[in-house]
Amino acid sequence: MTKSNIRKIALLTGGGDCPGLNAAIRAVVQSAIIEYDVSVVGIPDGFKGLLENKFVPLDLNNTTGIFSKGGTMLGSSNIDTPFAVPILKNGKKVFEDRSDEAVRNLKTERVDAMIVVGGDGTQSIAHGMAEKGVNIVGIPKTIDNDLAGTEFTIGFFTAVSTAVDALDKLHSTAESHHRVMVVEVMGRNAGWIALFAGLGGDADVILIPEIAFDIKKVASFLSDLHHTRKRYSIVVVAEGAKPLGGDVTVARVIEDSPEKIRLGGIGHRVAGELEQLTGRETRAIVLGHLLRGGSPVGFDRILASRFGVAAVKALMDGHFDSMVAYKNDQVELVPLNTGAGKNRFISPDSQFLQAGRHRGIHFGD
Ligand code: F6P
Repeated sequence: MTKSNIRKIALLTGGGDCPGLNAAIRAVVQSAIIEYDVSVVGIPDGFKGLLENKFVPLDLNNTTGIFSKGGTMLGSSNIDTPFAVPILKNGKKVFEDRSDEAVRNLKTERVDAMIVVGGDGTQSIAHGMAEKGVNIVGIPKTIDNDLAGTEFTIGFFTAVSTAVDALDKLHSTAESHHRVMVVEVMGRNAGWIALFAGLGGDADVILIPEIAFDIKKVASFLSDLHHTRKRYSIVVVAEGAKPLGGDVTVARVIEDSPEKIRLGGIGHRVAGELEQLTGRETRAIVLGHLLRGGSPVGFDRILASRFGVAAVKALMDGHFDSMVAYKNDQVELVPLNTGAGKNRFISPDSQFLQAGRHRGIHFGD
C-alpha cells in the first residue's frame, strides 16, 4: 500500500553530467515499474526539455545496458532554468520566469510527480517547482561532492578514481625527470576532489579552496622535500584554490548560466610561481572534464541504486519536496531546500584533512 496516488513519474538529469546518472535512471525505472507498477517518462536535457514540452517513455527495455555507461541517456544542461529564461526584448537580453509553463507541461502530460537528479543549482530549481505544487524528490549528484545535506553525491568517487589513476601515471614521469608536477582538478569552490585525489594518489601538497595557500611556504616545503627525501613531487590544486589575500582564477564567464563563473587556470599559475621560487623544473596539467567521464565505479553505481530506489519510495510515501541523502552509511530524506543552492565544504577538523596532515602532506598554510 502506498500513501500517494502516483501513476506516472517524470525524471530529469540537470547540471553538469557525471558518471552514475544512467545507473540512477535505471534504478528509478526498475523500482517504479517492478515495485510499484508506476510508469516513468524522461525529460531530455534537464529543465530545458521541460519547457520544450519533451517527454520520452522510459521502460525496462530502453534502459537496459545503460547502467555502467558514463554521462546521461537523457542529456543535461547547466545553464537552463524555467525561472529565468533569457529572451531578447527591444534588443536587450532580459530574463523571463516561465515556471508556470513548466508546471502546465507536466499537468498536460499527466505527470503526477517528478524526480530530479542534480547538484545544488538543479535542486534549487526543483525546490522552486515544489513550491509551485509539483510533487518532487531530488537525488544528489555532482563530481564536486559539494552539495549540502549529504555526505556523498553520485559521481564523486568515479572522479576521484580517475584523478588517482592520473596521479599514479604522473608519479613515474615526474620521478624520471626530477620535476614538480602540478595537477589541477575540478570541484568549484570545494576541495573534496583535490583532497581525496591527493590522499589516494600520494600527493606531497594539496591546495584546496577552504585553506588559502602561501606560495612561499609551499615552495620552501618542496625545496626541503627535494633536498632531503624525494627528487620529485606532486602538487594537487583544486580549481577553486586561492592564494593568501588573493581570489579564485576564473576561466570564463557564462552570462546565461545561473552560475556564471567557470573556474580554471590556477594550476598553471601555481606551477609558474613554484618554478621561479624553487628553481626546479615544473609542469602543470589540468584534468578538467576528464573527471566527468567514464564508467561509474562500483560505489557510485551502488549509491545511484540506493538513491534511485529511495527517491521512488519517497514519492510513493508522499514525502514531497525532499531530497535523498547519504549519512553514516544510511540513505535518509532531508528537506529539499537543504541541498537547494547550498554547498558543503571541508571543515578544519575533517578526518580526511587530518589524515593528510598526519601523513605530512602540505596544505599551503
Ligand atoms: O559541477 C561540476 C563541474 O564539473 C565543476 O567541477 C566545474 O567547475 C564545472 O562543472 C565545469 O562546468 P562546464 O562543464 O560548464 O565547463
